[in-house]
Amino acid sequence: NNRPTALIMIFGATGDLARRKLYPSLYRLFTKGKLDRFAVVGVARRSLTNEEFQDNVKESIGSHDHLDESKMDEFASKFYYHSHDVTDSESYSVLKGLAAELDSHYRLDGNRIFYLAMAPEFFGTIAEHLKKDGLTDVEGFKRLVIEKPFGHDLESAKVLNRQIRKAFPENEIYRIDHYLGKEMVQNIEVIRFANSIFEPLWNNRFISNIQITSSEVLGVEERGRYYETSGALRDMVQNHMLQMVALLAMEPPIRLTTEEIRSEKVRVFRALRTVEGSDVNSYFVRGQYGKGKINESDVPAYREQEMVDEASNTETFVAGKLMIDNFRWAGVPFYIRTGKRMEVKSTKIVVEFKEMPMDLYNRQEGSVSPNLLVIHIQPEEGITLHLNAKKGQHSGSTPVKLSYANKGIDGLNTPEAYEKLLYDCLRGDATNFTHWDEVALSWSFVDNISEVWENEKEASFPNYESGSMGPDAAEQLLEKDGFFWWPVTNLDVDKC
Ligand code: BG6
Repeated sequence: NNRPTALIMIFGATGDLARRKLYPSLYRLFTKGKLDRFAVVGVARRSLTNEEFQDNVKESIGSHDHLDESKMDEFASKFYYHSHDVTDSESYSVLKGLAAELDSHYRLDGNRIFYLAMAPEFFGTIAEHLKKDGLTDVEGFKRLVIEKPFGHDLESAKVLNRQIRKAFPENEIYRIDHYLGKEMVQNIEVIRFANSIFEPLWNNRFISNIQITSSEVLGVEERGRYYETSGALRDMVQNHMLQMVALLAMEPPIRLTTEEIRSEKVRVFRALRTVEGSDVNSYFVRGQYGKGKINESDVPAYREQEMVDEASNTETFVAGKLMIDNFRWAGVPFYIRTGKRMEVKSTKIVVEFKEMPMDLYNRQEGSVSPNLLVIHIQPEEGITLHLNAKKGQHSGSTPVKLSYANKGIDGLNTPEAYEKLLYDCLRGDATNFTHWDEVALSWSFVDNISEVWENEKEASFPNYESGSMGPDAAEQLLEKDGFFWWPVTNLDVDKC
């Protein structure tokens, strides 16, 4: 059904995620005519009237969206508020009554989405109550949407999973990884499987290495409390970075169904070489930002930020080398790096092809460059292909670039990740959500690394300056293998 009908319950309705992402995304779906009958119940602790909540919703859209505001009142009129105590059955029965009323008033066919946009410590409790207190006793579909972090390690993820699985079967659980909602992340599959010029080369005979960078300029801001328990490895690598690796490395699925794609991704995780014990520090590098300059202004070190221990051992940067021990990828390193307070906000994938077997062009420094396929995830969206060609009088060869800038369907911008993911969830398409098997395998990969890092204080912290591209050790990680990080700041979409 392309115009779904549902009652959407958002737990954590006054929180940052709901205001920044969920309301604007729902509004965009609404104004694009993608929703049929729907109503929203905002659930949170504080007490608010429906009107106050609706004003909140309008305000959050107004400050984040440039869309036509004329439908705002109509949209907001479908929002209701329930002040809630997550551990109290009485509160769930009031919510159940409200849901039943809205269901019949708006004719929502008993379809329900329960979106938990809040701290994960309550996921299990809420899921259990939803079932026990009868909110899932409806005719239509029931879907539970949860945000990361999904646990802190494999053990805690298992506990959490057991709790929510008591109330919802796997096929009703939608675990969000917002990177899977990004247009160009979704494009990886199309670039690979709709182009006969790439797929034959997509293996260890022709690719020398793959580099995935996701750098951020922002620091931890006001999230110090969470980040101290997480660090870049859990915050970015366990989920977003490994998901991109899986999409780049998986075998072509036999068809484009959720199950087929997932099972190919799972096979990549199963082939990931385990890195543990004394190997950890030769495959992975950690960093923590010190002071530095961002846009010419001084910024403080991580250890000086709010809610951060002044001797914190938490990493704000990770670079790593991943090996996928299967037939296709044996010997090809997948390098990843991600960090906060770096030079630019940029997510890019660079696929570097092997050199020609012989140099006919008396190669001088910079004259022949390896072929690269660059997938620009954000902020620019596009693809560039780096080739060598003859240029002008010059008889040798020069690097040139073919560029495709993705402008989205309306030529302006592509839908935001959350808009796509919400819509997928409403339509029951779980392809771009993470299955438990993926979560479990990626935690066990990451746990081996964090175990070593947690038991071994990093004496050199802070080891990179704010505004840089990370610690020197991240450069050395590639140099050891005869490669270097392609500088993301020089790779853009349009210029030649
Ligand atoms: C989140 C992390 O999952 O992803 C944040 O918790 C990070 O720390 C964010 O800033 C990055 O997302 P994006 O879409 O801005 O690249």
